[in-house]
Amino acid sequence: MDSELKRFVQSLFPGVMPTGVASYIYYDGEGHGLDPHIDTEVYEINVIVMLEHVLPVSGEPSHLLIYENDVVPNRVLLVPGEVLILNAGSVVHAREDMARGEKVSILTVGFSYELP
Ligand SMILES: [Fe+2]
Repeated sequence: MDSELKRFVQSLFPGVMPTGVASYIYYDGEGHGLDPHIDTEVYEINVIVMLEHVLPVSGEPSHLLIYENDVVPNRVLLVPGEVLILNAGSVVHAREDMARGEKVSILTVGFSYELP
């Protein structure tokens, strides 16, 4: 675990610790996405790194959806290299479906208040 990343995340969420769990997630087919959910199994704080976004042939690209205090989500479009830190254990989030020709690859790095 990069200590600079650890310090940065802990400055936002005091007391969290790295879980040592990172996941590579990719969406590479039309219609692939993720329904609204919260992350409860592995980690509450989720560092999302956008690795690659191949834009669709036409139309709008897939956004990350974050439902904070409304049924209307914030739509976030990360470009490759950008990072978003999400309190994924309590904030509902989703990934819009891929359009034709679109691909998204992300890395998620988990932090938690309680380690097993
Ligand atoms: Fe999630």
